[in-house]
Amino acid sequence: MVMVIQEKHAVLPQSTLDEAARQEFVNQLGKHVLNEFTPGNKAAYDKEVLPAFERANGRDPKNRHEIRKEMLSHPYYQMTSSFQRTIQEMMWNSVDETIQRQLPQLIAKAEEIAKGPTKGSLALKPDFDIPRYVSENDHHAMPGGYATDLCPGDITAGALYDKGAFIYTQGLFGPRMDGVGKAASLMIKRTWPDLAPKKILEIGCTAGGSTIGIAANFPDAEIHAIDVGPALLRYAHARAESFGVPIHFHQMSGEALEFADESFDLVCCLASLHETAYQATFNIFKEAHRVLKPGGKFLCSELPPYEGLDAWTQFVRDWDTYNNAEPYWGRVHELDFGDAAEQAGFSRANYNQGHGPGIAEANALTQAVEVQNKKFMGSTRGGGQAWYAWMTK
Ligand SMILES: C[S@@+](CC[C@H](N)C(=O)[O-])C[C@H]1O[C@@H](n2cnc3c(N)ncnc32)[C@H](O)[C@@H]1O
Repeated sequence: MVMVIQEKHAVLPQSTLDEAARQEFVNQLGKHVLNEFTPGNKAAYDKEVLPAFERANGRDPKNRHEIRKEMLSHPYYQMTSSFQRTIQEMMWNSVDETIQRQLPQLIAKAEEIAKGPTKGSLALKPDFDIPRYVSENDHHAMPGGYATDLCPGDITAGALYDKGAFIYTQGLFGPRMDGVGKAASLMIKRTWPDLAPKKILEIGCTAGGSTIGIAANFPDAEIHAIDVGPALLRYAHARAESFGVPIHFHQMSGEALEFADESFDLVCCLASLHETAYQATFNIFKEAHRVLKPGGKFLCSELPPYEGLDAWTQFVRDWDTYNNAEPYWGRVHELDFGDAAEQAGFSRANYNQGHGPGIAEANALTQAVEVQNKKFMGSTRGGGQAWYAWMTK
């Protein structure tokens, strides 16, 4: 078995042996529950829930919502769903303990790095109005969500995402947590082999992992990355500098970009739209179109649509919508991205969507893919293949 170790950098919280043991325990417990217990729900459905539904209604369930309504009262589903949610909370708590123990030192380190000399930059706005769909929700049950700013100079949200998501995805994002950006870069190079972008923007950079993956593949480009959470961005900046990667981080919403018209060659929005409200996606597409130069490219990676999947699989994938503080998850799986593109000004003829290289291919982590593909409730998180929408202005 290949073990993926997270690569150290200046602000990565360091676990004590006891903390690391607890984090690993939670990780293994999660795998055990996902692989050994939750698949039993299919048997409960096939043997008990579906026949009872057919008897009562004289037909099969029409969609995932009808399946969910029935499964909610089944004790096996209640048990496994509760296990999965509890493990998610245990995972974040195990990481938060490590972060809070060394928070003053991590903040001091991030501040020291920010003072320079730096290769990139950090632009925060104290009066920035964080969109409510981010500030009022703790996405994937991460304590405080993306927006919380606990104290002056806080970096907690970034540290939680960097260290917690590494455990949560069982190393799938790779040692630098840059797998989403690396996979997107592979997709870009395969789709547009001659593209040599001079200026790139990433919308929804979180702790900067995906941005570093892009930067590694386009080292000559000037790279800008935006997010709405200040503690994410402070951490992302210190992290990128510690890896020696020049990235310009800005606190900004993808719905209202503060960049000039026609100023970027490539805009990416990676694994972020399922965490924005429905209308925000349309606004982000419009802004991406505005800031792209004529002929510029826009690439989104997202969870694959539910279309074409049977109702049971849709129900399984939809677990996060109701149980993992991902309220926009189900809706984005049903969104017509082509429509959003057209409304933004891209022509249908220049719009494409479909599967492409996933994180595991980008990071050569087949073992991690196997684990993720077995995952029962919730999405497989693009392990084997990712889903993309790509378009040209
Ligand atoms: C799942 S994370 C993205 C992960 C990241 N791209 C990576 O692969 O490491 C989603 C991010 O989108 C950000 N976000 C949500 N709405 C946004 C908006 N309107 N503008 C910019 N960022 C936004 C959230 O704050 C969050 O950090």
